[in-house]
Amino acid sequence: MLNPNLFKMPKIIIALDFCNKKSAMKLVNLLNPSIYYLKIGKEMFTILGCKFIKELHKLGFNIFLDLKFHDIPNTVFNATKAAADLGIWMLSVHASGGKKMLIAAKRALQSFKNNPPLLIAVTALTSLKEVELQEIGIQISLTEYILKLSKLSYDCGLDGIVCPGKEAKKIKFLLGNQCKIITPGIRISKDLLYDQNNIITPKEAKEFNIDYIVIGRSITMSKHPIKKLDLIVKSMQ
Ligand code: C5P
Repeated sequence: MLNPNLFKMPKIIIALDFCNKKSAMKLVNLLNPSIYYLKIGKEMFTILGCKFIKELHKLGFNIFLDLKFHDIPNTVFNATKAAADLGIWMLSVHASGGKKMLIAAKRALQSFKNNPPLLIAVTALTSLKEVELQEIGIQISLTEYILKLSKLSYDCGLDGIVCPGKEAKKIKFLLGNQCKIITPGIRISKDLLYDQNNIITPKEAKEFNIDYIVIGRSITMSKHPIKKLDLIVKSMQ
C-alpha cells in the first residue's frame, strides 16, 4: 500500500458512506489508520450512531464527523460540544448558518483545551450549480459566494473550509496557508460523476495546495479499493 503521508500531498479522507455496518467494515479493515482518515456523514451516523465512532476510535482511526450543523446558535453550540465529547478529530458546520452560529460553534470548543477537534465550515456543496444558487435567491457567482463564506468562517475563528477544488487556490491566496482546505468531489478519469458537479482530480488537488481530499464512491463502490487508492496516490506523486 502506498503511503501518501511520505510525500507532500493532500491527505486522504475516506467518506464512509455505506448503508450498513458490514459493508463499511469490509473497507475499514483494509485501511491503515495511520494513513487514512475516515469521514462519518449523515447516513452512517443515522444508522450506527456514536457507538460506531467509538469502535472506529478503538481501531485507531481519526474521525471527521461530517454532520454539517446548521441551526440556531444555541443548538449548534450544544451539538458541537456533544460532538467534541466523542473525541473526534474534525467536525463540520454550514457557513451559511451565519456569523453568530459560527462563533457559537467555535465557542463550544473553548473548554476542550487539549486537542480540540478541528472546526470547519462547508461553503457550497460540490454538487451545487450556479443556477441552483440563483434558485435560492443568491444573485452572486458561485465563486464569489464561496469566497465570501470562506472569509466569514475564517474571521469567526474556524480552522478551515470545505470548498470545491477550483476555488481552493483563491481561498489560500485570500486567507493564507493556515486556513485548512478540505475538498470533496474528487474524481480520476473514468470515475462516474454521480451527483457531483464541481470536481477535480487528485493531481489538481495537489497543485492547488489542498490540505485534505475527501473521496467517497470512487473507493466505496470499487471492487479493488486499495488498488484504486494506490492509483490515486501515484497520480499525485
Ligand atoms: O462519493 P463522493 O466522492 O462524491 O463523496 C463525497 C462526500 O463528501 C460525501 O460524503 C458528501 O456528503 C461529502 N461532501 C460533498 N460536498 C461538500 C461537503 C461534503 O460532497 N461540499
